Amino acid sequence: MATDRLGVGFIGSGFITRLHIRSWTSVRDADVRGIWSPNARHAEEAAALARELRVGEAQAFNSIEAMVQDPAIDAIWICGPNFSRIENLEAVLTPVLDGTAELIGVACEKPLGRTVAEANRMVALVEDAGVLHGYLEDQLFAPGLRRGREILWKRGAALAGRPYLARAAEEHSGPHASWFWQGPLQGGGVLLDMMCHSVEVARFLLTAPDAPRSSITPAKVSAQVAALKWDRPAYARQLRERFGPDVDFNQSPVEDFARATITYEDGKGRELISETTTSWSYVGPGLRLRAELLGPEYSLRYSSLDSGVDVYLSREVQGAAGEDLVEKQNAEQGLLPVIGDEAAAYGYTGENQHFTRYFLDGRQPKLNFHAGREVVRLLMAAYMSAEQERTITLPAPALETFVPQVAQAPSDT
Ligand SMILES: NC(=O)c1ccc[n+]([C@@H]2O[C@H](COP(=O)([O-])OP(=O)(O)OC[C@H]3O[C@@H](n4cnc5c(N)ncnc54)[C@H](O)[C@@H]3O)[C@@H](O)[C@H]2O)c1
Repeated sequence: MATDRLGVGFIGSGFITRLHIRSWTSVRDADVRGIWSPNARHAEEAAALARELRVGEAQAFNSIEAMVQDPAIDAIWICGPNFSRIENLEAVLTPVLDGTAELIGVACEKPLGRTVAEANRMVALVEDAGVLHGYLEDQLFAPGLRRGREILWKRGAALAGRPYLARAAEEHSGPHASWFWQGPLQGGGVLLDMMCHSVEVARFLLTAPDAPRSSITPAKVSAQVAALKWDRPAYARQLRERFGPDVDFNQSPVEDFARATITYEDGKGRELISETTTSWSYVGPGLRLRAELLGPEYSLRYSSLDSGVDVYLSREVQGAAGEDLVEKQNAEQGLLPVIGDEAAAYGYTGENQHFTRYFLDGRQPKLNFHAGREVVRLLMAAYMSAEQERTITLPAPALETFVPQVAQAPSDT
């Protein structure tokens, strides 16, 4: 299947699909050509956004199968909710397996699965079908973080020795859709939702730019989770008013704080430490990503809110609530940071350029479903550590069937 321009179809038309579409204005060799979502109106709106931004002659499809079978579609980006991952991938691959469609690749949003068992199934499905696969972890493509890592490894590590400690954090005031707050649907709370990013960022910083991810090996995980804010009666009520009775933090709260320490070993048996922390209980200007990398004679510091642009709005300016300054914005008055191009700053632009190039060249991305599964395994080890209040030594075969307590439906317990 030779093509010099990749036609991409999206599954899901929600928050993340729209961010991807916005990033596409800087993706040269691919077009957004299809959207499928159970909500046809939303699919039409997302397709219209793509056309308006001139990133492709996108059309809404009636089914995943029809989208995959359309000759204009060469690759699929899976951006549906976590609870639909496996059914979405099965629907993508069925026409490929029965010979009614050709597909170059599938890229999947985080997390790859809600459990290791689900991630295993994703890997097996995609490999059986013989299509290329990519794991969409945008933050590894955040330009500042990437450049800082490159410089520290080239100038610092080359002369002073490898870095030994990485810290990564992602925090905001809570997700935008009801299913994220429901443990069985999402697969957990903030640990699964956001620590997937921080764990991967810390591993990325600790890995030499040209080395394979297997050059450092996770050896143990120690973690803690807590419900700090959203199970308080007034906040639980707020959630119910916003999302309806399905989000009941009096009866079934999920964690809104998590931290994990992962000890890695490098090829020489030396210890490296990854410290990650994440929360839905941070009230600041909006989404905040932070990272640090420490080595013998050098360090790196990154914060997404140090954007270089602030605006000031006095108390006389009482505008409507919005997210026009920064994702998950919490205020419209005072001194506020602005992010010039969020799709680029968080890494979506670089990520979509990357997977487009690999798929067009017929190459298997290194950031693939295996990588996504490794992230899920580390997150499950973190849940297990938090639940059992002990350090988990890896490899731990029990992780293959582990389901966090918060992800279990009441009837499972
Ligand atoms: N990389 C990131 O930083 C990032 C940020 C946000 C979300 N995500 C991930 O992207 C995915 C989607 O999140 P979102 O924020 O866009 O959620 P969302 O709730 O805003 O949108 C979900 C979309 O999926 C559709 N949908 C519902 N049921 C479906 C089904 N059975 N099959 C396919 N689609 C279905 C909905 O109609 C909606 O269009 C999640 O897996 C989430 O973890 C990643």
